[in-house]
Amino acid sequence: MSTSNEHFWWQRGVIYQIYPRSFMDSNGDGIGDLQGVINRLDYLSITLGVDAIWLSPFYPSPMADFGYDVSDYTNVAPVFGDLETFDQLVLHAHQRGLKIIIDFVPNHSSDQHPWFQNSRSSRHNPQRDWYVWADPKPDGSPPNNWLSVFGGSAWEWDQTTNQYYLHSFLKEQPDLNWRNPQVKDAMFAALRFWLDRDVDGFRIDVTHFIMKDPALRDNPLKPTADRTMHKSLGEYDSQIHIHDQGHPDVHRIYRELRLLLDEYSLDQPRVSIGEIHIFDWDKWASYYGSNLDELHMPFNFQLLGVEWQAQKVRKIVDSLEAVLPPGAWPNYVLGNHDETRLASRLGPLGARLAAMLLLTLRGTPTLYYGDEIGMTDVHIPPKKQQDPWGKRVPGLGRDGCRTPMQWDASTLAGFTPPGTQRTWLPVAENFQQVNVEIQLHQPGSLLNLYRKLLAYRKIAPALQIGNYYPIDGVHEDCFAFRRYHPGHPPLIVVLNFSAQDLTLELSEHGIGYIVISTNLDREEKVDLPGLHLRKMEGLMIEVDR
Ligand code: NOJ
Repeated sequence: MSTSNEHFWWQRGVIYQIYPRSFMDSNGDGIGDLQGVINRLDYLSITLGVDAIWLSPFYPSPMADFGYDVSDYTNVAPVFGDLETFDQLVLHAHQRGLKIIIDFVPNHSSDQHPWFQNSRSSRHNPQRDWYVWADPKPDGSPPNNWLSVFGGSAWEWDQTTNQYYLHSFLKEQPDLNWRNPQVKDAMFAALRFWLDRDVDGFRIDVTHFIMKDPALRDNPLKPTADRTMHKSLGEYDSQIHIHDQGHPDVHRIYRELRLLLDEYSLDQPRVSIGEIHIFDWDKWASYYGSNLDELHMPFNFQLLGVEWQAQKVRKIVDSLEAVLPPGAWPNYVLGNHDETRLASRLGPLGARLAAMLLLTLRGTPTLYYGDEIGMTDVHIPPKKQQDPWGKRVPGLGRDGCRTPMQWDASTLAGFTPPGTQRTWLPVAENFQQVNVEIQLHQPGSLLNLYRKLLAYRKIAPALQIGNYYPIDGVHEDCFAFRRYHPGHPPLIVVLNFSAQDLTLELSEHGIGYIVISTNLDREEKVDLPGLHLRKMEGLMIEVDR
């Protein structure tokens, strides 16, 4: 039986994702920055009570994809600050016990990166092979049928050297050739650079993309009925992506990357979390490594696209528990900078239920900034759109979930210093009602529900590291489970997904005491043989059996 000491911070803790452009602007240019994050560390560590922050990219970048097009892997973009500010951020975060996870973007660099500039300058340049170049077909068309996630062919013709280069995303994001050992060495050197600056881990962008079929074979076409689970990707979804990503030797790279992290983990455990949009459970789980020697956690995105029904959600949780290799650690994600916001997907009551689900399941939760106050997607008029994906494929833009954090009811929601004229994306119109300051003063607010759940999770080993046992036969609209860690009070979590009140029979769990309800305060002893739940209510109950 495991004891609490055997668990690492990234297993016990809660991760909070910050999109640096949108969290806090300290200098009045309308764009968030690292100093802004430093200024809000007390909010994160004390007011909210999370344990780690993951920062989306802050590296120098032409910002074609807002930082996911990196032109220098070992520096900070002036718009976000500089290396000294970054060091200060790490220092101040660590003083508060907050860990820092940064984004690592290995699949592609910016086309402005000197590596690519060299590579494209001549077929004989020593860095030519750092990217994926190929000849056209005899008729001049691209080497194969691979598509860019952001629309159109994944190949761009380069006139200087008369070859195509591969870009799985924008043409401004050429794919690096990880089969070239020099690329791997250069990218691992970048990891060391940040580990030496004391970061606690990496979120790895499109982890599975870095190895492709060396023969560059065409992808097979997908039967129309068989679509991606979480979001329609348009034309991209018409293929089975077996050759343009996830070639089996991808695992060799992550085994090496893990060794590197292990080398740095002797006195300070570091973590690797992979962004992996793979919805086949076994394939997904393979990224833990056959001996748990690859990623610490592949992000689990299955809850992002699930139909919000009790049994469907339960099925995901049970499938995850069943597929995890022995000793592997689960995790759950309910929002990020690429997805429709949680409160927009589920509505206000659904967002409350989701908060309880996320923070009571077994596994590391990742929260997306602003979801704790129920920020909703903002409609951005075409003229103000920023996201290149949305500009290329109407309807797939991600600006709506990236708007400035709503701190208070002052002009521009307290996101910028007073006097700032505009922000890079518009502030949501609802900021006067939906903001941190107001919700802190409302006992029943979503923010206060998150704070309660986080505070309870911090002191409850059953939630942090306890086992998960689904409870059968409660009601088809209910997802109920038990969390237990030896020596600590067992808990049951009962979530009513329906729009009706329900009365449930849970007598086998003995006497219960409600510690948190997703609705109004309801801390009371309850009758488990006749447990009453209001519509869409979730309860966390300490039980004696
Ligand atoms: C996944 C990131 O989450 C997304 O924002 C980005 O556009 C692509 N990877 C390309 O780097």
